[in-house]
This record gives sequence, structure tokens and C-alpha cells, in this order.
Amino acid sequence: MTNDRGRLAGRVALITGASRGIGAAVAKRYAAEGAHVILTARTVAGLEEVDDAIRAASNGQAQATLVPLDLQQGEEIDKLNAAIGGRFGKLDVLVGNAGLLGEMTFMAQIEPERWQDLIDVNLTANWRLIRALQPLLLESDAGRAMFLTTGVAGGRAYWGGYAVTKTALEAMVRTWAEEMSETALKINLINPGAVRTSMRADAYPGEDPETLPTPDEITDVFVELAETNCLRHSEIVNAR
Ligand SMILES: NC(=O)c1ccc[n+]([C@@H]2O[C@H](COP(=O)([O-])OP(=O)(O)OC[C@H]3O[C@@H](n4cnc5c(N)ncnc54)[C@H](OP(=O)(O)O)[C@@H]3O)[C@@H](O)[C@H]2O)c1
Repeated sequence: MTNDRGRLAGRVALITGASRGIGAAVAKRYAAEGAHVILTARTVAGLEEVDDAIRAASNGQAQATLVPLDLQQGEEIDKLNAAIGGRFGKLDVLVGNAGLLGEMTFMAQIEPERWQDLIDVNLTANWRLIRALQPLLLESDAGRAMFLTTGVAGGRAYWGGYAVTKTALEAMVRTWAEEMSETALKINLINPGAVRTSMRADAYPGEDPETLPTPDEITDVFVELAETNCLRHSEIVNAR
């Protein structure tokens, strides 16, 4: 059943990168807390799997809105404004979660196309989401936005464009947060720490994934930062 007493009852939340990993776990948790979730990613099968899980957990009472899109297509991001505005008239929560790791290598050995992919997905797409969705977040009585960062922001050898784009993401989110400080919109960054996902396995192929928390185990902070009574703003919040 729909959870009309959940901590996010009645809220409308958009989550990027919801086809697997942390985004999928946040989607399921938000739905369990009563939010209506709008899910984006490129992999339709992954989005449908998350929707199936949401329906099953609610005995068919809840369902997600699926918006398959490639965040490297900026015009597709722009269309979210009209699509969400037309149906809901506002957006309560934005979770900018989608991310790309890229190749772990020397700066001088990164291929230009792979560099551009990282800039596009980890930085530009989040700016474009801000640009498209700020008006709808301000229509909410208590808009909330959060973006995923990492301990390697600031720079780390061999983490290349990932470290660089997450550093820039942090600067962008803090800049936006300062601009919005007189509004009801609260904006933060989340550092999830090491989490058992395919991205983590790509970064640390020799690591035993069983030693890491699952995405489902780190969703509390996402709920806290989405709640209307949470006034945290312009912080980097650790998930654990
Ligand atoms: N896992 C960790 O230990 C860890 C640590 C620190 C920070 N983080 C951050 O947490 C976030 C989630 O990471 P994760 O570990 O859950 O990664 P993941 O399992 O690799 O999932 C990444 C998500 O991003 C989406 N995505 C990637 N490129 C996209 C594109 N061009 N267009 C649309 N969606 C795209 C993927 O969907 P499709 O492929 O279906 O498009 C997928 O849903 C990332 O921002 C990551 O940097 C993770």
C-alpha cells in the first residue's frame, strides 16, 4: 500500500541514476517512505526492475514514473521541466546521483572522449538539472536537492576526471546553495563512502564486496535531507 504516513508522504522526488546501485536503493526507500518517485537512467530494464520492486513492496498501490534518458543529451534534461511541471506543478526533492567513474589512469593518458564523458555526466548534467528544475523546486513549500560526491574530490592520483569533476560539482553545488540561501530550498552534498555497487567494483576490483555496506544500508541520510523539517544547507553530509 502507499505509505501516507511515511516520512516523505506526498513528496515528489526525481532521482537520477536510478537503474542500479545507490540511486535504485534511494528510489525504493523514498517510495517506501510515501514519496512519488520519478526515475531516470539509460537502462530501461533497470528502471523497470526498480518499479517492479516498488509495486511489489506496496501491493501495487505505489508505482514510479520512469523517464529513460541519457544525461549527455542536455535537451532531454530540459524537457523534464515541462513534463514534471505539467503533471505535478512542483518538484519537492532532486537527487543528482548519476555518475561515471571513467578510467583509473594517469592524467596524461586519459582519452579526450572519455574526459568529455566525465565532464558531461558528473558536472554538466547536474548543472543542466539545476537550470531546468530550480523553478519547480521553488514551487515546493520545502524543496530539497542533494548531489553525490566522494572522498577523492579535491584530487587523487589516478582518479583523473572523476576526482576533477566531483571537485567541480562540489563548487557548483555550494555556489547554487549560496544563491538559494534566502529561499525554502535546501541544498546539500552527500558522501556515501564505500558502497557495494558496480562502480565501486570497477574502482577496486580486488576488494571483497561482502565487506562493504549495500546501497540499501546507506539510505537514511537521503531521507533525512529530503524531509521538510530538515534545514541543513550547503553541507557535505557523510552517509555513515
Ligand atoms: N559506490 C561507491 O562506493 C561510491 C562512493 C562515492 C561516491 N559515489 C557516487 O554515488 C553515485 C552513485 O554511484 P553508484 O556506485 O551507485 O554507481 P553505479 O552503480 O555505477 O550507478 C550509476 C548510475 O548512473 C547512471 N548513469 C551513468 N551514466 C549515465 C548517463 N549518461 N545518463 C543517465 N544515467 C547515467 C547509471 O544508469 P545507466 O547506466 O542505466 O544510464 C546508473 O544508474 C555516483 O555519483 C558516484 O560517484 C559512489
